[in-house]
Amino acid sequence: MATQVDAETLLSEAGEVIAAASDDAALANAKARYLGRDGVLTREMKSLGRLAPAERGPEGKRLNGIKQRLEALVNEREAALSQMRLEQQLAAEAVDVTLPGRGLGSGGLHPITLTIERIEQIFGSIGFDVADGPEIEEDFFNFTALNTPENHPARSMHDTFYVDYGDKRGEDGGLLLRTHTSPMQIRYARSHQPPIRVIAPGRTYRVDSDATHSPMFHQVEGLWIDDAISLTDLKSVYADFLRRFFERDDIELRFRPSYFPFTEPSAEIDMRFGDGPLAGRWLEVSGAGQVHPQVVRNIGLDPERYIGFAFGSGIERLAMLRYGIGDLRLFFDNDLRFLQQFSR
Ligand code: DAH
Repeated sequence: MATQVDAETLLSEAGEVIAAASDDAALANAKARYLGRDGVLTREMKSLGRLAPAERGPEGKRLNGIKQRLEALVNEREAALSQMRLEQQLAAEAVDVTLPGRGLGSGGLHPITLTIERIEQIFGSIGFDVADGPEIEEDFFNFTALNTPENHPARSMHDTFYVDYGDKRGEDGGLLLRTHTSPMQIRYARSHQPPIRVIAPGRTYRVDSDATHSPMFHQVEGLWIDDAISLTDLKSVYADFLRRFFERDDIELRFRPSYFPFTEPSAEIDMRFGDGPLAGRWLEVSGAGQVHPQVVRNIGLDPERYIGFAFGSGIERLAMLRYGIGDLRLFFDNDLRFLQQFSR
């Protein structure tokens, strides 16, 4: 017998080497050692030619048998390695279904939104409609129709952001970010018949920024026009609103003479609490007045017949007083620690 290899010795040695292969690379090495181009068994096969012709057949068969058993050992190990890998992966990616969920948290409304909803609810309950209008407003509605013609000094109190839209300027001037919600008086009243009873809350813009002013802020406009609506009605409506808004009865009102081009007479409404940290301090909460006859005319109504009141209040101001907030910028910093205090 020309070949040396003893089947059982080889297979038991190879079996150990293969079983010790702990990953694919080690297994590939082990396989090469026996079955590779230069492997133990391959060399044996190559030397078959040196045997006597009569021995070649049986020896070839024997070597083939060994080869098949070696291959079976390699395949077995391969399957075992891949099973181990799968088990390791399953263990590593295991999900503990008994852990409590992280949850999405329950979101909440912004304090300004809550305040607007509250104002709408109170005015809605006494028959006011709620209207919404454009924040990019025409100069005409923001100023001219409100009795504030071009070059009127009152315009300079409302410095704002103008929209540059090239040569498409309309007859009535350009577009701007509305400086107040008052243009909604004109828009709403032009498309409704008296009695006109509406509030219009929304965003407004001015070039202003400090602890009590923000370039974007919110106002709520109020308008009531009919054939006999007087400042007495303004006083009772606004006093009732404040008492319900702050949920307290110890609120006093004061009407301080003021000037607005779109009202005559005009007033600032101040209020004060009878109790609490702000007790006794007059706080300005709104501009107001009797709608100017020229504005009634601009709406398309006869000022001899129709009369009413209007007011415009700062929503941040009301929210700050209600919640005891000292810095207006907190509303717009988007700090969750602040905002979460209002979610219900
Ligand atoms: N639009 C005024 C402002 O922004 C506030 C105001 C004053 C509104 C008097 C009114 C009003 O409707 O009658 O300063």
